Amino acid sequence: MKASMTVNKNFAISKVDPRLYGSFVEHRGRCVYTGIYEPGHPTADEAGFRNDVKELVKELNVPIVRYPGGNFLSGYNWEDGIGPREERPKRLDLAWKTVESNEVGIHEFATWANEVNTEINMAINLGTRGIDAARNIVEYCNHPGGSYWSDLRRQNGAEKPFKIKTWCLGNEMDGPWQIGHKTAEEYGRLAQEAAKVMKWVDPDIELVACGSSNSVMPTYASWEATVLEHTYEYVDYLSLHCYYGNQKNNLPNYLAQSIDMDNFIKSVTAICDYVKAKKRSKKVMNLSFDEWNVWYHSHAQDSKNEPWQYAPPILQDVYNFEDALLVGCLLITLLKNADRVKIACLAQLVNVIAPIMTDAMGDAWKQTIFYPFAHAANFGRGTVLHPIIDAPTYDCESFKNVPFVETIAVHNEDLGEVVVFAVNRSETEEMDFTVNLQGFELESVADFQEMNGFDIKQVNTKDDGRVAPKKSENAKVSGEKLEAKFAPLSWNMVRIKVK
Ligand code: AHR
Repeated sequence: MKASMTVNKNFAISKVDPRLYGSFVEHRGRCVYTGIYEPGHPTADEAGFRNDVKELVKELNVPIVRYPGGNFLSGYNWEDGIGPREERPKRLDLAWKTVESNEVGIHEFATWANEVNTEINMAINLGTRGIDAARNIVEYCNHPGGSYWSDLRRQNGAEKPFKIKTWCLGNEMDGPWQIGHKTAEEYGRLAQEAAKVMKWVDPDIELVACGSSNSVMPTYASWEATVLEHTYEYVDYLSLHCYYGNQKNNLPNYLAQSIDMDNFIKSVTAICDYVKAKKRSKKVMNLSFDEWNVWYHSHAQDSKNEPWQYAPPILQDVYNFEDALLVGCLLITLLKNADRVKIACLAQLVNVIAPIMTDAMGDAWKQTIFYPFAHAANFGRGTVLHPIIDAPTYDCESFKNVPFVETIAVHNEDLGEVVVFAVNRSETEEMDFTVNLQGFELESVADFQEMNGFDIKQVNTKDDGRVAPKKSENAKVSGEKLEAKFAPLSWNMVRIKVK
């Protein structure tokens, strides 16, 4: 099978906002407790954070982490996580029916974030809380000093403000499962007023308003329009969330789900632009895809979970090779939409639907999805080039004309490279793939990493991490062309040195 992509150095979709490679840490299951934090673990640092996990997070190169939820957020009192640890209350978390110890709060998380070279995307509770708690947490985190909350932060050991730039106004407020679920009108008004005072406290912050929890919500689209009617001039991003699964065990259809993500992004962009036109606004509303991933493997197990445990093993999806291929397709789709999607968060980071798994008091290891994410996050920086793709297509249950190759090229100016990411969706055929790189002087193939040849249901465990990339020699440059061979069912990253 043959396919090609043509790009031109001067035809860009957009610069990649580094926050496109964000992730998410929720106080949920074993993400925080026995995930990133486990005092007494052989690798734990003085503050109780696991160094083995820190190393893996650094390898992923995640520039921003959304925190502390998620559904957890909508019942959370941020003040429970500050001050002396021994005085912090244990609370029932009604979202996940677990017990929250509050051993980790803002200070601890900020220290950890600093150590793994990431920034915090802080979410505020608009479920049970409101404008007052919202303005106070911004004052606590970002005001230099000389006021009640900023001085309390200093007393609690952080002389300098955390200077958190990105803030989410609640979580999935359209969902009836959410504590303090609201109508679009109710949420829109509250988000507007919270946004207004938060920016009065710190005008440098950026705010994300909640879009729909997914595109099959009954209120989807009208929710976005109504929320933006209220918040358009007050916020900077609208959120999208989406999780995929292969419940029907239909691989061609599963691997085509990135088309659903693309449609979702395009539709939400259209709604933003409709409100912009209606308001005669000059402002462009950008998007924050702040929860995305595969999530379905753990559903059956989680339905049997006993309530009110501390750090129970919930949402522990064990990812297989086909999940890594879909995550690759989804990453490419986010890049294709980098002109509007400025923030995206792979949900989540450790143990809970995550690229990193840990055993309590034991090992940490890489799930299959770790690799496409790490490739994109480390090398897919710079400028996304507008692709003209010529590829054979197939039809499946949900979509027609699905290209056998999902692909994109990014000009990484800092490294002097064009980086091509591609998934070959064909189960049987190798793909002869040509990239025409107009306007570039090609020097050599710097690296070609591929993942292929595994059983599609193969997973990684702590003892067997076989689903991993390997180096390929099947790519060469000549003139303005890259010629590469992509194996059937493969994730590919080709880095080309350019002038
Ligand atoms: O990431 C898992 C959960 O999915 C989050 O808590 C919630 O926001 C979403 O429904």
